[in-house]
Amino acid sequence: MPSGEQATDKAAELFKQAVCQAVADRRVCNVALAGGTTPHDLYQKLAADVYDCDVPWASVNVFFGDERDVPHDHVDSNYHMAQRSLLDNAPIPPEQVNPMPADAEDLDAAAVEYEQIVRRIVGGEPTPQFDLILLGMGGDGHTASLFPRTDALSESHKLVVSQHVPVLGRNRMTFTYPLINAARHVMFLITGEDKADAVAAVLGDDKRARKEIPAAHVNPVDGKLTIVLDAAAARKAGLKPAAD
Ligand code: 6PG
Repeated sequence: MPSGEQATDKAAELFKQAVCQAVADRRVCNVALAGGTTPHDLYQKLAADVYDCDVPWASVNVFFGDERDVPHDHVDSNYHMAQRSLLDNAPIPPEQVNPMPADAEDLDAAAVEYEQIVRRIVGGEPTPQFDLILLGMGGDGHTASLFPRTDALSESHKLVVSQHVPVLGRNRMTFTYPLINAARHVMFLITGEDKADAVAAVLGDDKRARKEIPAAHVNPVDGKLTIVLDAAAARKAGLKPAAD
């Protein structure tokens, strides 16, 4: 079963494939990046060979699936992490990078505005269709900033919302399921022992357990779902090693 590094390598390979395919098909790739710590090594890996591979980075529009309520130069900002590990090192025009304003005074208005930017740039009716949405998952099964027992889980119209997350004591801005599940491809990258229980619940057949796990409700309506795991995260899911 793969190590964390092997899972990251696999995710990087699939990420690049998705970008190349989208640009080949539609001359542009609209991607939403994940935050947290897991994707950091993935972004660094993408940045490491940015010039000796044929990924058309100049045709990529970058968004964020969620953001913390901190300025974009704050160490906890998902944008800040992606900027330092990938965006500062890839030839993506800055005007094609769309940080999420989760530290705005009026968070609800900022969420509406970000949704309008997504609708304008990504396009697609009735729901904009991302070419790739990268997601992580917390030990409690949250994904993006869709946390257990929060209002955003039941949002069925808005594509981007802000909410207070009691378990964090902080506000977050996040994509909602309607936007995530409209994507052509959603890829989870999940590593580490602390995710094993939630992964087992997502992949298991215990409907009650799955119901409590926000990540388990990510099911692209007309798109592909990829879950990249390392051995530690997969340990309790009873999986057989995938043929490479
Ligand atoms: C965030 C992320 C979040 C993340 C999970 C896993 O803002 O924290 O978007 O959904 O993917 O919390 O985080 P780790 O990768 O740090 O385990």
